[in-house]
Amino acid sequence: MQNFVLYNPTKIIFGKDTAKEIGPETAALGRKILLVYGKSSCKANGIHGQVLPSLTAAGLEIIEHGGVVSNPLLSHVRAGIGLARQHAVQAIVAVGGGSVIDSAKAIAAGTLVDHDVWQFFKAKKSIKKTLPLACVLTLAAAGSEMNGGMVLTNEETRQKFGVGNRLLCPRVSILDPTLTFTVPPDYTAYGAVDAIAHILEFYFTTRDPATPVQDRFMEGLVINIMASCDRVLRDPADYQGRADLMWSATLALNGWTAAGLGMVGFPMHMIEHSLSALYNIAHGAGLSIVMPAWMRHQARLRPGKFSQFGQRVFNLTGSDERCAMAGINRLEEWFVSVNSPTTLSQVGIAAADIPVIAENALALARIWRLNEYGKEVIMEILTACR
Ligand code: NZQ
Ligand code: ZN
Repeated sequence: MQNFVLYNPTKIIFGKDTAKEIGPETAALGRKILLVYGKSSCKANGIHGQVLPSLTAAGLEIIEHGGVVSNPLLSHVRAGIGLARQHAVQAIVAVGGGSVIDSAKAIAAGTLVDHDVWQFFKAKKSIKKTLPLACVLTLAAAGSEMNGGMVLTNEETRQKFGVGNRLLCPRVSILDPTLTFTVPPDYTAYGAVDAIAHILEFYFTTRDPATPVQDRFMEGLVINIMASCDRVLRDPADYQGRADLMWSATLALNGWTAAGLGMVGFPMHMIEHSLSALYNIAHGAGLSIVMPAWMRHQARLRPGKFSQFGQRVFNLTGSDERCAMAGINRLEEWFVSVNSPTTLSQVGIAAADIPVIAENALALARIWRLNEYGKEVIMEILTACR
């Protein structure tokens, strides 16, 4: 176990009927706010109708900035920054999933600087201050509601980059599982896949051979995410299932799983971000394609941890080699069972595109210092999921 500092400043308000807390919580952050949300779901399922009265009852002046798309775009963030500056807003409220929260984070950081917000994503500028952010989460997936990460697509350069900074952590996030009852089966599954990927990125890339506390924590989260996802795919209004899935997805990327692991990486995300940037496929769908191929590539190098995963998550027995490969197969079978794609061809991406995808991923591999991922390795992994 390595030395670590664990600090997470986000206040979480969890449970039924908590969306009405957003007004008083935001009033503590400022009087004039920018309200950021997606294309249509929050109005269609009445969440906007719960949040707006709470904000107005708290005496807040509200500037709305809807229309965030999945795999959120730099152009929409730039427009939000313009609005935030024009109205001199004092805080940002995000109502949505990871795409909305990440856009709100980029606006919160970009409003206070005189350079373009994309400079943060190219690691050319670092974040020194942000507007305060309050969130109402409507989809269990990215974990952005309780972390300092944000991911954006630059549609001009066709790059999807992520950046992390503690100042991006929301001041408060409201997690009401009932708000996720309307999430359709595909995005319910993609969200579960994304949360599992967040866990396995750290579980398999730590070089520390002795992290039993973290391992059991992460293995338990993976088991819970699969079980709760299966439940809510059977019954979308299963509160317990939605609550378990929501809290597990938040825990999957709020710093707690990585505590004590030392250096870890995000290689599966590095590759997946190119799939989302170039083909606009859902993030979780891209990960269910990349994950098994990356895991098989790594298991050949270091079977031990993959064998532990197979034994503890899927109760497999036998040699390390057998448990490692059988565990990866079982996870891939689960992706298939929740209708998340497992090959590039299933989402219409031709094998002939693999060199272009690999070239695109290389830029992020350099920024994230994933130096063992050259174009050849990335192409080998992509070829295994064609
Ligand atoms: O846009 P609307 O109409 O709201 O529809 C959304 C969207 O189409 C819909 N939706 C959201 N809540 C709903 C709902 N539909 C019905 N009922 C509800 N309650 O779901 C669709 C997907 O929403 P999105 O926010 O894109 O999904 P998700 O939460 O999975 O976020 C994905 C984004 O998060 C980033 C990804 O790269 C991707 O851009 N990530 C952010 C991370 C972070 N900040 O730490 C880490 C992750 O690895 C991830 O990269
Ligand atoms: Zn992710």
